[in-house]
Amino acid sequence: KIIILDFGSQVTQLIARRIRETQVYCEIHPFNHIPELDDSVKGIILSGSPCSVREADSPRVNLEQLGNRPILGICYGAQLLAYLGGGSVEASDHREYGRAHMTTVKSSPLLAGLSSNSQVWMSHGDTIMELPAQYEVIGSTESVRVAAFAHVDKPIYAIQFHPEVTHSLEGGALIKNFVVNICGCAQTWTSDSFVDRTVAELKAKLGNDKVVLGLSGGVDSSVAAVLLHRAIGKNLYCIFVDNGLLRKDEFEQVLESYTELGLNVKGVNSKQLFYDALKGLKDPEDKRKAIGKTFIKVFDHEAHLIEGVAWLGQGTIYPDKIESVSLKGPSATIKSHHNVGGLPDFMKLKVVEPLEALFKDEVRLVGKTLGVPKDILGRHPFPGPGLGIRILGDITPEKVDILQKVDAIFINGLKEDGLYDQVWQAGAILLPIQSVGVMGDERTYEQVVALRAVSSVDGMTADWCHLPYEFLGRISNEIINKVKGVNRVVYDISSKPPATIEWE
Ligand code: XMP
Repeated sequence: KIIILDFGSQVTQLIARRIRETQVYCEIHPFNHIPELDDSVKGIILSGSPCSVREADSPRVNLEQLGNRPILGICYGAQLLAYLGGGSVEASDHREYGRAHMTTVKSSPLLAGLSSNSQVWMSHGDTIMELPAQYEVIGSTESVRVAAFAHVDKPIYAIQFHPEVTHSLEGGALIKNFVVNICGCAQTWTSDSFVDRTVAELKAKLGNDKVVLGLSGGVDSSVAAVLLHRAIGKNLYCIFVDNGLLRKDEFEQVLESYTELGLNVKGVNSKQLFYDALKGLKDPEDKRKAIGKTFIKVFDHEAHLIEGVAWLGQGTIYPDKIESVSLKGPSATIKSHHNVGGLPDFMKLKVVEPLEALFKDEVRLVGKTLGVPKDILGRHPFPGPGLGIRILGDITPEKVDILQKVDAIFINGLKEDGLYDQVWQAGAILLPIQSVGVMGDERTYEQVVALRAVSSVDGMTADWCHLPYEFLGRISNEIINKVKGVNRVVYDISSKPPATIEWE
């Protein structure tokens, strides 16, 4: 495997994803929490950083600690190698940002197979002026002489551009040169091998133990369940709670898919409990808390019904696990364990997280390998509190019914017109206002709904989708004609930031 030492760059995860695309396994670790480097670690990558090596308190590593393994420095990582070797790094007097073209000036295994005028993406404020004696330049651009360099007799390489971003057109090939040809990593990180290995590991770890897992209908919990089921079969007890805030017919449909997959799943109808807990609550955070608390209550009760359960299965994925870099010394956050006594019993179970090494796109590939149906794998993200945070203000079963009908018309419309897969997330919001309309000869005074559809990569930022006017027009007509109580439809054209995806 490859270890990426993170110096706090925004795009470190992209380096990991590019490496995984070459079917090589890699891990991200903070520069100041280097894991044990055993023989399985074939190479090290030093990431970029918002810092400057010229600052006294900028992040550093002791290169000797890394052994004789191949090293690749990227951007800040490259400047750090030059600086630590005794070279000079200075603030650049011209902009080194955007596309550039790199010419190979000396042949090197790192640049093997790249075109002689390869487009690369630069983004740095500092630049390397002088390399230490033991390094030589292997690639230059119009304005950056030291775009790529290598040690004269050790497998140490560095580049000031970012091969991990797609604007570096041959970045993937460069990364492959490093991890496969230079480090000698085997290209065995495939979904088939992941499934085989993980199923064997889960069998060894869990033996005859029972595991309880909460299904949500989403990609991660579904794939985690199918993987666990492969390993331990009927000893996996899945619980799918109907909180009364799901999409129209979703509970029944998803339950059926799960049953078809052979999962041992129990559907629990707890709608009324949730509606009771939400009664009169208007504040979004109060609603979230009430929904969360009720879920825990229901889940704890269900977990208790499973005799001798020892483990809690979870669909946690790698981005949730990566330890983020604190540039102000070791992290001061200390997890509080003092309230363990007050935790619901299921939270005291041992935790098994079969997807903890995977990125989202890898979860989908594994799901495909496992035969999870496309309608589960391709499903839009849906918030845990569900329609509870899409009904602004207080929640009643009547409002849920209206919103479910509106949402179903919108989502089915997106599917029928082949737009669903182009949209990252979509849904409808029931606004707490009425407006005047006219239907036939009569004045109406009814609810307003908003439609929201966004494109995004990870939900951190998002753009509103430019859905075709004809489509929006048709959906609006259908909603107003078919859903009693709604006489006006608006489309949300705000991006995130400054808006958020959800309205609450
Ligand atoms: P925002 O509204 O913060 O949403 O732009 C970003 C993503 O997070 C989802 N979201 C939630 N998911 N519980 C969840 O499980 C929540 O309370 C919650 N709030 C927002 C949202 O649907 C979007 O995908």
